[in-house]
Amino acid sequence: MRYLTVALAKGRLAELAMDIFTSIGMDCSEMKDKSTRKLIFTDEEHKMKFILVKATDVPTYVEYGAADIGIVGKDTLLEESRNLYEMVDLEFGACNMCVCGRPELKGRLGEITDLKVASKYPNIARRYFQETKGQTIELIKLNGSVELGPLVGLSDVIVDIVETGSTLRENGLEVLEVICPLSARFVVNKVSMKMERERIMEMVNAFIEKTEDKDQ
Ligand code: PRP
Repeated sequence: MRYLTVALAKGRLAELAMDIFTSIGMDCSEMKDKSTRKLIFTDEEHKMKFILVKATDVPTYVEYGAADIGIVGKDTLLEESRNLYEMVDLEFGACNMCVCGRPELKGRLGEITDLKVASKYPNIARRYFQETKGQTIELIKLNGSVELGPLVGLSDVIVDIVETGSTLRENGLEVLEVICPLSARFVVNKVSMKMERERIMEMVNAFIEKTEDKDQ
């Protein structure tokens, strides 16, 4: 039996994913040790390897087959548009992709020519404004603390994830438009799905079951 490799998006998603892998009998104890700097963890009994990678890289590892399976947010999948199978909506990490800005802009975005949009998600932002709304924008790519954009006059609005809304509230910004809901997804490499269908589907079904249990 060959090893199956799972790429986990470092951070909260990885921790929640580890809880599910643990509940279906995998050994994730070494990975849960916060002081470790290791990047590859092995469960010899189940012939599984887990790798911890930056969230935006999970779809790349899975598309190229360096990982058979990935656990990653829908935001990253939408931004990266990789060629892979999205198998399960795990429902955790739920939040929304939104256009946010100063409250006085609510309902008025269409009136602004060359709207300046700052985002960590340039592809999602461009698609939403240009393809869905048919509005030309000037896109400014940022890598974090995106809420600063409208506060320091870098942009009119931002496209970003809103979870609790507290970052917006504490900075005097509001959700102006909701683009789409987001959550963690279980994704699979297309070749792995053919070669290791049985083992992967067993895992997919276990994840579906765990997700359904939580809903009840
Ligand atoms: C994310 C996101 C928002 C914030 C939303 O940022 O980009 O800034 O969380 O969460 P909230 O609605 O619960 O306040 P992250 O913490 O990843 O840091 P970043 O700004 O450096 O990207």
